[in-house]
Amino acid sequence: MEQPVRPDPESDPGHPDIDAVRAHLLAAVAASAGLDALDLVRVDALGKQGQVTRLLKTLGAMTPEERHAQGPRIHALREAVTAAVADRRAALEAAALDARLAAERVDMTLPVDLAPPGTVHPVSQVMDELAEIFADLGFSVATGPELETDWHNFTALNIPETHPARAMQDTFYLEPRAGAGGDAVRPPAGDRETPRVLRTHTSPVQIRTMLAQKPPLRIIAPGRVYRSDWDATHTPMFHQVEGLVIDRGITLGHLKWTLETVLKAFFERDDIVLRLRPSYFPFTEPSAEVDVGWSTVKGRRVLGGSEGWMELLGSGMVHPRVLENAGLDPAEWQGFAFGVGVDRLAMLKYGMDDLRPFFEGDARWLKHYGFSAFDVPTLSGGVGAQ
Ligand code: DAH
Repeated sequence: MEQPVRPDPESDPGHPDIDAVRAHLLAAVAASAGLDALDLVRVDALGKQGQVTRLLKTLGAMTPEERHAQGPRIHALREAVTAAVADRRAALEAAALDARLAAERVDMTLPVDLAPPGTVHPVSQVMDELAEIFADLGFSVATGPELETDWHNFTALNIPETHPARAMQDTFYLEPRAGAGGDAVRPPAGDRETPRVLRTHTSPVQIRTMLAQKPPLRIIAPGRVYRSDWDATHTPMFHQVEGLVIDRGITLGHLKWTLETVLKAFFERDDIVLRLRPSYFPFTEPSAEVDVGWSTVKGRRVLGGSEGWMELLGSGMVHPRVLENAGLDPAEWQGFAFGVGVDRLAMLKYGMDDLRPFFEGDARWLKHYGFSAFDVPTLSGGVGAQ
């Protein structure tokens, strides 16, 4: 925009061309494109050396008649310029706000991207499903370390050093720490604090929970466990969920009802049938292997019914010696416990037949078998993924 020529108010101090100054300043105000430019115009008009200020100063040198004639005009000029600057500032600020609002606008009505690039791993999904189902029965989630002490992983669970049951689990032992002279330093026998193994099962969380909390207890403990194994159904790291209930008057009936209720919700079938088969675990007495029934539908084996049985998990009544090791009086408290492979549950529910890809991080497998992060399992919405 073309700027009007700036008139010099002092070229003829007796008769300054007030109309020309007004026209020039109002045009400059209107033409200022931003708040900074407007401020320059304001200083040029109303600042100490500004054109309007200098006009005001000419009043002192005028005759009373001249002042009578020019005074109101110059004051009116100052008011007009002041008002124009204020209006222009308000307009520029409003425009700046509009521009910001337009730039920061979010259209809340746009559809959400329901397929973000990442997926929830089936193991995480199944753990979330189980946590949701057990929470409904009053269980909370407990955790323990993956680097575990020999005592928590074995001894406290009634598996003493010499017990053949230690051979049941192919344990990864940690290197003993090197001593000052380079010799391996073994923790003293009976040491309850120094980590010595990668936990072989989630059962040590039973011990840690009983030692840390007062009964009655209802917990599940999902987590990673480690064994020296590798084939289509065994990986060196896999996942278990441990369960523990400690209360007065707990029986095998409570165990069976709980597992039946949970597995019906998990597999989303009312016809799930369980069979408790006598077994042996050092930390439970009696111990039971729990089988789930299957039947044949259109030539395929599906869970439900009882045409045949498949082994699902280990369980039993908590051994009195385990209760004692964890500081509880077996005459007062009883409980049941169980441990189940999460990976196996995921394979059964979502139809995978090889465990190894679970841990290979192949993006195609994860995309195929993974779950949307928006598909949070809830009992009301369905624990099964859509
Ligand atoms: N810890 C056992 C395992 O890893 C599973 C197990 C069996 C856990 C019986 C239990 C139980 O709590 O009562 O093979």
